[in-house]
Amino acid sequence: MATTTKTPTKAQTKTAAKSATADTKAKTNAGTTASKKAPMKEGQKEKAKSGAAKNLQDLFEDGLKDIFWAEKELLKALPKMEKNATSERLKKAITQHIEETEMHVQRLEQCFESMGQKAKAEKCDAMAGLIDEGKSIMEETEAGAVRDAGIIAAAQKVEHYEIATYGTLAAFAKVLELEKALKLLLQTLKEEKKCDELLTSLADTNLNSKAE
Ligand SMILES: [Fe+2]
Ligand SMILES: [Fe+2]
Repeated sequence: MATTTKTPTKAQTKTAAKSATADTKAKTNAGTTASKKAPMKEGQKEKAKSGAAKNLQDLFEDGLKDIFWAEKELLKALPKMEKNATSERLKKAITQHIEETEMHVQRLEQCFESMGQKAKAEKCDAMAGLIDEGKSIMEETEAGAVRDAGIIAAAQKVEHYEIATYGTLAAFAKVLELEKALKLLLQTLKEEKKCDELLTSLADTNLNSKAE
């Protein structure tokens, strides 16, 4: 095969120059950040920003606020997913999980209550991103088995995030000896895991029927 040398267009040269600059910038930034701060050592303490969690109790409460926001957002997002789904089993699974999610919100309120606090929500950027991704998937797919597969995938990412969060919060509650909160968090964790398993089985059925 003959090799042809193409002269790059003005636009191509500009783009290449731009990406090269960006590359150098990224490398320089990485270098600066790395050299600015020495690696942390075990047991080392550093002054935190104001408002930062000072101890495990603070970290636990911050986590509760995040997931409280997330669960309430899910109560708005899940009905849209249900509307977009075509599989009856998937619709049913989502409807059932909406009811469970209402309970998750109530249990979190009880968690705050058990510590003598009023429930407070703080925006959880991770969940906001997962919900946005779910919205895009629904917009970018044709209704039917493919969109159903997309909805299941998006819903499972949400469940996995919830499982990680409730697992962590339960571990914190255990160390902090917050028995009531621990019990409530474990109940929800169990339901999130069950929902995830159901979605896995629905994904298999959906993909198999599509393959047929
Ligand atoms: Fe939940
Ligand atoms: Fe969930």
